[in-house]
Amino acid sequence: MSNFSYIRGFGYYVPERAYTNADLEKFVDTTDEWITTRTGITERRIVENQTSADLAFEAAKKALEDAKMDADELTHILVATFTGDMYIPSTACLVMKRLGIKNKIPIDIGAACSGFVFAVETARAFVALNPDAKILVCGSEVVTSRVNWEDRSTCVLFGDGAGAIVVTSENSDSSAKIIDVLLSSEGEDTALLVRGGGSSCSYKMGDVVGDAHFVHMNGREIYKKAVRAMPAIAKELFAKHDITSDDIDIFIPHQANMRIIEAVGKKLNIPREKVFVNVNKFGNTSAASIPIALAEAKETGFVKKGDLTLVTTFGGGLTWGASLIQF
Ligand code: UT7
Repeated sequence: MSNFSYIRGFGYYVPERAYTNADLEKFVDTTDEWITTRTGITERRIVENQTSADLAFEAAKKALEDAKMDADELTHILVATFTGDMYIPSTACLVMKRLGIKNKIPIDIGAACSGFVFAVETARAFVALNPDAKILVCGSEVVTSRVNWEDRSTCVLFGDGAGAIVVTSENSDSSAKIIDVLLSSEGEDTALLVRGGGSSCSYKMGDVVGDAHFVHMNGREIYKKAVRAMPAIAKELFAKHDITSDDIDIFIPHQANMRIIEAVGKKLNIPREKVFVNVNKFGNTSAASIPIALAEAKETGFVKKGDLTLVTTFGGGLTWGASLIQF
């Protein structure tokens, strides 16, 4: 039995409706020039009557098709999200229902934008416990349902979407090997990136939804932390596996901001042509960002069989992580 977990299938889904920066200019005090130069984002996808479970379901179908698996073969469903459909049931339960299956282990995982990489590590642990486990791991967000459209410092940054993979202990010609995952966090700066509205915010029937329910971010501080944390954890991973950045064929960073992506690539000495970018067309989709990028990089041939791929993530908590995947 191998000690590794493998990714057997990849899929992603984004809503059809695209909002360009020019569309936002019509109702937010912003400009295309500001958004493009500060973030690299030119458009983002926004749902129409779809939930996080709906998006995850669409991505999951594609991942299962790519894995050539029936949904019923799954043993676990993990959904990383901070914009789940409801508090109860979990979004993972709703995805299980949409897939028409039962008797699985559905779990939501919350680590903000880093949630997907945290969920991949959780999947590896389940596979280590039970080599027969077949785990659907989704990152799905309808972030636009929880942005304050009057707060230009946040609302222009985010988009909706979902990505999914299937993690198993079985290797095959088409699967990618998860070589390792490193996760980290700190609890000092919990207030830098917040979406409240939970038990810290008691309210009674008829109250108007307040500011606490929406995303708040100290962008400048998050920026500095992200640019420090992602290269540091990637270097830790390189040291652990006795490799250097020259060994990396493809770099898939969290898609939050083009300037952050470029700064992290530069600190790691990874040339721009090895860096996968889709933040320009999807914005920051939080926990969906990495699985969408993985699936799109594979679908478009940006990442090829044999490529050693570095993934880095960063988000609220603060949380961050990195992974090495051999395609
Ligand atoms: O995914 C989880 C992690 N999240 C991130 O990684 C995001 C990290 N942070 C960032 O990407 C950047 O900090 C932002 C893109 C959010 C902001 O860029 P910045 O260069 O740090 O800008 P800033 O927040 O320092 O704001 C600069 C100016 C301010 O005006 P003054 O005070 O200089 O007059 C803002 O009021 O830009 C103004 N501003 C805007 N202007 C036009 C803020 N948002 C906008 C806007 N349109 N949408």
